[in-house]
Amino acid sequence: TAQAKAMSKVMGFDNIPMSGADTITLPKGYSWKTLISWGEPLFSKGVPFDHKTRGTGESQELAFGDNNDGMSFFQMSDDHGVFVVNNEYVNRDIISPNGIETADDVRKGKAGHGVSVFEVKLVDGKWTLQVDAKLNRRITADSPMEITGPAAGDDLLKTAADASGTKSLGTWNNCGNGRTPWGTYLACEENFNGYFASTDENFDGGAQKKRYGVGNKDWGYNWFKFDERFDISKHPNEPNRAGYIVEIDPMDPTSTPKKRTALGRFKHENAEVVVAKDGRVVVYLGDDERGEFLYRYVSDGKFVEGDNANNDKLLNEGTLYVAKFGEANDELAGKGEWIELTHGKNGLTEEAGFKSQAEVLIFARMAGSVVGATTMDRPEWVAANPTKVEAYCALTNNKNRGKKPNAGGDETPVGGPNPRAGNLYGQIVRWTPADEDHAAATFDWDLYVLAGNPAVHQDIRKGSANVTPDNMFNSPDGIIFDKAGRLWIQTDGNYSSKENFAGQGNNQMLCGDPETGEIRRFMVGPVACEVTGAAWSEDGKTMFVGIQHPGEKGKPSHFPEGGDSVPRSSVIAITKDDGGVIGA
Ligand code: FEO
Ligand code: CA
Ligand code: CA
Ligand code: CA
Repeated sequence: TAQAKAMSKVMGFDNIPMSGADTITLPKGYSWKTLISWGEPLFSKGVPFDHKTRGTGESQELAFGDNNDGMSFFQMSDDHGVFVVNNEYVNRDIISPNGIETADDVRKGKAGHGVSVFEVKLVDGKWTLQVDAKLNRRITADSPMEITGPAAGDDLLKTAADASGTKSLGTWNNCGNGRTPWGTYLACEENFNGYFASTDENFDGGAQKKRYGVGNKDWGYNWFKFDERFDISKHPNEPNRAGYIVEIDPMDPTSTPKKRTALGRFKHENAEVVVAKDGRVVVYLGDDERGEFLYRYVSDGKFVEGDNANNDKLLNEGTLYVAKFGEANDELAGKGEWIELTHGKNGLTEEAGFKSQAEVLIFARMAGSVVGATTMDRPEWVAANPTKVEAYCALTNNKNRGKKPNAGGDETPVGGPNPRAGNLYGQIVRWTPADEDHAAATFDWDLYVLAGNPAVHQDIRKGSANVTPDNMFNSPDGIIFDKAGRLWIQTDGNYSSKENFAGQGNNQMLCGDPETGEIRRFMVGPVACEVTGAAWSEDGKTMFVGIQHPGEKGKPSHFPEGGDSVPRSSVIAITKDDGGVIGA
């Protein structure tokens, strides 16, 4: 360990062992506390979480949602700030243990989704929720949204309730997030398809719905039984109004969230925003599905600090691109290019099925196929290094690599940044844009890490050289840089610790050094959780981390309260006992 410490200039803690315990495990000298858990009221007219009933529709509308994922902390002073946190989905068997049968069950489920906004203050050294603070807000699957950008008003977005095609209701399944330099929050709609169903079992949604996984059965949420807009046989355009990046102003609780169609419609993971050399805004975007693509958006205009009217246009006017990775120079490195998804270019014509730019954006996956984008092993979060012009994307896993495509998608040959058939463990690809410019047309890529299990396998499944029996993991998902350039890696993988995953323990968070490639395990989460989402106080001395779905699928967790409590997704706050910067 002394030698490892000397290798990394940015990491000052020791790698910790794997764990299967139902708690948070951290390196020596670190502590954690719960900041907020599912069901905790943000308003005094709410009620404390009821472990027996798990609340009602009304109580959930006033409380922190379920399954927190991406988040940002907008700090306003040394001791005051506002959190914006995605509530991706609900654990149906936990939130509604008697099944989702009644209108109130559905109301509660819809309110468990969306985004939670709440102020915090530093009280006796602990960041603490401020009930009833003026920025506190719940955005749910029923909140009014504005649809903006090139696809707004298109016929494909018009419904019985909205003849304008510009006003929809709700955002749901927000996975990762983004944060703009002008102070807004980006919530990213991922598995929006799982909420639509058809009361007409013979309804045929066609190739476009198929490619997006919109079918006649939902995933068990039963929203369509009480809210007809989720019935695709009656409202076939409704799914076209979901699958976007949603921009939210956390400083104005009366503002209407804006869906930004210019950034394309797919199963968005996160939105990593960087300002390019010339001031244009670049947003990197993953589409988390086996064999789907990695995207990049470049704004037409430039970011101007303090000019809200200018900055409000940056995510409406710009160009979307999709990544094509070139032939590998060697097994783990190569070149690539960004291909423009603009109507009339690169074969995106009426004959190819696209009448307009609106259709290119609404069916971005199909546009990506036309231009020959590279099928990826489930692109999850993208993270840009703040200390160097380079970016990373977690490719979480893909059991179908080399075997079968996504429904209606492209073949998925083994090669390039997706070098393993039936990929169980995942990898992180890194690219360096040409001319140190995130807006450049081309890039060089390599694999930062190929996850694996060197205790079980000796072939390519053992992983890259920076994976050892001591730090191994599977399924990297959330990846987020801190200010100092430490790459935090969160996992959403197999937590059985058996067979291919023997010795890997619960889902966890590791820290990577971009320069040396060294990876150390920093935190292990509780039973059956996923670790996802991170934010920091401005001084870097508190790190906030998301613990999602502890105890899912009936697994034995009572996180975070212990005893016989109901397991609850939570945001935790990690501090160093000596008051230092986390990870340093
Ligand atoms: Fe919600 Fe791709 O993770
Ligand atoms: Ca994820
Ligand atoms: Ca995942
Ligand atoms: Ca998740």
